[in-house]
Amino acid sequence: MSQTTLTAFLSQAAEPGLAALIEALARGCVEISGHVRQGAVGQAMGALDQQNVQGEVQQKLDVLSNDILLRVCAEAPALAAMASEEMDSIHPVRPVPAEGGLLVLFDPLDGSSNIAVNVSIGTIFSVLPCPADSPGREPVEADFLQAGRNQLAAGYVVYGPQTQMILTLGQGVAAFTLDPESGDWVQTGQGLAIKPETKEFAINAANMRHWAAPVRRYVDECLAGVEGPRGKDFNMRWVGSMVADVHRLISRGGVFMYPWDQREPDRPGKLRLMYEANPMGFIVEQAGGAAFDGAGDTLDRQPRGLHERASVMMGSRAEIERLRDYHQA
Ligand code: AHG
Ligand code: MN
Ligand code: MN
Repeated sequence: MSQTTLTAFLSQAAEPGLAALIEALARGCVEISGHVRQGAVGQAMGALDQQNVQGEVQQKLDVLSNDILLRVCAEAPALAAMASEEMDSIHPVRPVPAEGGLLVLFDPLDGSSNIAVNVSIGTIFSVLPCPADSPGREPVEADFLQAGRNQLAAGYVVYGPQTQMILTLGQGVAAFTLDPESGDWVQTGQGLAIKPETKEFAINAANMRHWAAPVRRYVDECLAGVEGPRGKDFNMRWVGSMVADVHRLISRGGVFMYPWDQREPDRPGKLRLMYEANPMGFIVEQAGGAAFDGAGDTLDRQPRGLHERASVMMGSRAEIERLRDYHQA
């Protein structure tokens, strides 16, 4: 069977401006993958003596990955500006093109706590259209504050035993695997679909005593197993990298939760809406799953800030609908 590459896929599935941006992101992730695979033999390991806007100590690979994506994405002619977990404010690239102007947000290196222990990490990206009233002017931060439903594309790359990209352009979900020999992204999946039912959930159980009652009820019922109200046994996983945990549920069903908890009552959750919850939520919905933030669909939330956090529950549709029912009970 002749192999379809990402380039061939995009030439059919995306208008040229978006295709060029996705290709640039893919080139950047190949560079990042190279640094990840070099590990301590390379120059990208270790922490820096500085924090990002999140108040988190930055790893060298966080900053290196961010710099790589800034450089490669700037070559995409339709791109007006970028935003990143690692940057306080937006990075303007050019005045908004007359038509087809794009904005991209990314978490350049997701799962940073796993870098030093050689566990899967990744890159997450989200593409939004420039607002209709913006052509000809400089892009501003407010242009990014669009609900997740507006996304034109979303994807992630997981740097695991394989380097894989999962991508949606709003017409289903496709998978690409980096061929280390040729350097090509080869299509290895299309029409990915999340099983609606599951026996597997992912949550950091160390936070159990802090969860809201609906989340506690859902997890307790899973733990009660076949003797409990669910009538079946469940399995638990927690990688500590959202890309790895979500990739698993895309691949074999499941639920990923990083919900609000009472440790910081004014904070909706740990994960960020614009470049973690929204892109992953778009991919999950496009694969037939659901993404819920404790009040409504993640993709319906109107962002008020670039680094706004969100309560995240996403995955197999029947399980998320159960969680939604418990939150509304
Ligand atoms: P990042 O490294 O980009 O800050 O993201 C880490 C996130 C997410 O990838 C993961 O699911 C979660 O943090 C893990 O949090 P805990 O370490 O609290 O379990
Ligand atoms: Mn992250
Ligand atoms: Mn990150």
